[in-house]
Amino acid sequence: MFDVATLAPSILSADFNRLEAHVREAIACDIDWLHLDVMDGHFVPNITIGPLVVRALRKVKEETGVTLDCHLMIEEPERYVEDFVEAGADSVTVHVEAATHLHRVVQQIHSAGARAGVALNPATSLDSIEEILPYVDLVLVMTVNPGFGGQKYIPTSTDKIRRLRQTIDRRGLKVDLQIDGGVNEHTIREAVDAGANVIVSGNSVFGGSRSVADNITALRSALLKIA
Ligand code: DX5
Ligand code: ZN
Repeated sequence: MFDVATLAPSILSADFNRLEAHVREAIACDIDWLHLDVMDGHFVPNITIGPLVVRALRKVKEETGVTLDCHLMIEEPERYVEDFVEAGADSVTVHVEAATHLHRVVQQIHSAGARAGVALNPATSLDSIEEILPYVDLVLVMTVNPGFGGQKYIPTSTDKIRRLRQTIDRRGLKVDLQIDGGVNEHTIREAVDAGANVIVSGNSVFGGSRSVADNITALRSALLKIA
């Protein structure tokens, strides 16, 4: 158990030829969440996975208790919420830019039996979630433009994280503040210090030449270093 912040490795950077083994390497390091990036080629330029891959990870989830956290970067997310929850998603996050009736989609996710999250692109203001905030379990602040792994953390994100953390605390809400994109051993600390408590990381967990365990140790060490 590592409780400074929850690490949520994104399988986008994992080796899909041995997906199960690769995610198990992360879970062996006491990882509690796996982040699954769903892209439709419309809301974002890239196409990735659908409910089939979520279902394929269900066995790992049932054996280990890992949380399957689905980040839907798709248009009309309301069409697929039930499919993802039936496949095994514990948490479903939709983009505020992609859902016209955001409150209805959040209700739909809860009725399907999952935790509900809303995601904000870098250029989307925190004002856009003012009304939905009391209804959600998680807010995802994108720290890169969604679509691809391995991009650079956008530095102004840190101030956005700080302002959202202040709002969550001032309103006395129990909402996870998740960040996603460009997190590495150099950027993780400032994001967590600003108030993020769930940290998505793809490339810095599954990429590079070090082992997954060494990558996770490097991220956790960056959080524990005395500034
Ligand atoms: C980007 C995805 C991210 C991505 C993060 O659109 O939402 O989850 O996998 O990858 P890194 O950590 O490599 O920036
Ligand atoms: Zn993501």
